[in-house]
Amino acid sequence: MKVLAVEGSPRRGGNSSILLDWVLDGIEGGGGQITRLSVRDLDIAPCKGCDGCLATGLCVIRDDMDLVMEHILDCHHLVVATPIYFYHLPAPLKALIDRLQPLWVRKVLLRRGPAQKGGLLPVGVGATGGGRLFDGILLTFNCVAPLLGLELVDPMFVRGVDAMGAVENVRGLREIARRKGAELMAFGRG
Ligand SMILES: Cc1cc2nc3c(=O)[nH]c(=O)nc-3n(C[C@H](O)[C@H](O)[C@H](O)COP(=O)(O)O)c2cc1C
Repeated sequence: MKVLAVEGSPRRGGNSSILLDWVLDGIEGGGGQITRLSVRDLDIAPCKGCDGCLATGLCVIRDDMDLVMEHILDCHHLVVATPIYFYHLPAPLKALIDRLQPLWVRKVLLRRGPAQKGGLLPVGVGATGGGRLFDGILLTFNCVAPLLGLELVDPMFVRGVDAMGAVENVRGLREIARRKGAELMAFGRG
């Protein structure tokens, strides 16, 4: 089963990346074939709002989003790992999400919705402990999942981690994350 993992932090080897490593351990253990893309290594321009996709469901911009789109359409499950930046996604990852607009066009305007596939698992980290820390990104993932034919699954959110590698100090977290990955592989198998 193909799993696309998107790493959204501008910080290489940071908390969300480590957490993603652990989730992917569980996915690999469940037989998943993983493709991992890091947004910081990709060149993805922001959506211009040019309406160029309205008639065709295809974006007029040619950049690394072509590669992302290929993998997004091909995967069975999707994992997106991200830090919270001012209560939302870091700008480069938000640019990737905005570039999914052609999929909204296909589903809503052209009535060519995607086939139902697997799960979308958000993996998020933030420094503070606020109850609403992940509300913004949850709304976004809720909105995006149906465009991809995915069902939003119970997310993995970790509060109170800030310094580089702080997730390593949270006791039991590695195993919880590994289990999350294994659960994703079981999702939809009835
Ligand atoms: C620009 C910026 C904005 C941030 N905004 C928030 C925030 O609104 N709430 C929060 O709890 N942490 C915030 N943080 C802290 C990060 O979410 C935290 O350090 C996280 O562990 C970083 O994850 P990473 O190592 O995967 O990049 C912010 C960090 C940066 C650099």
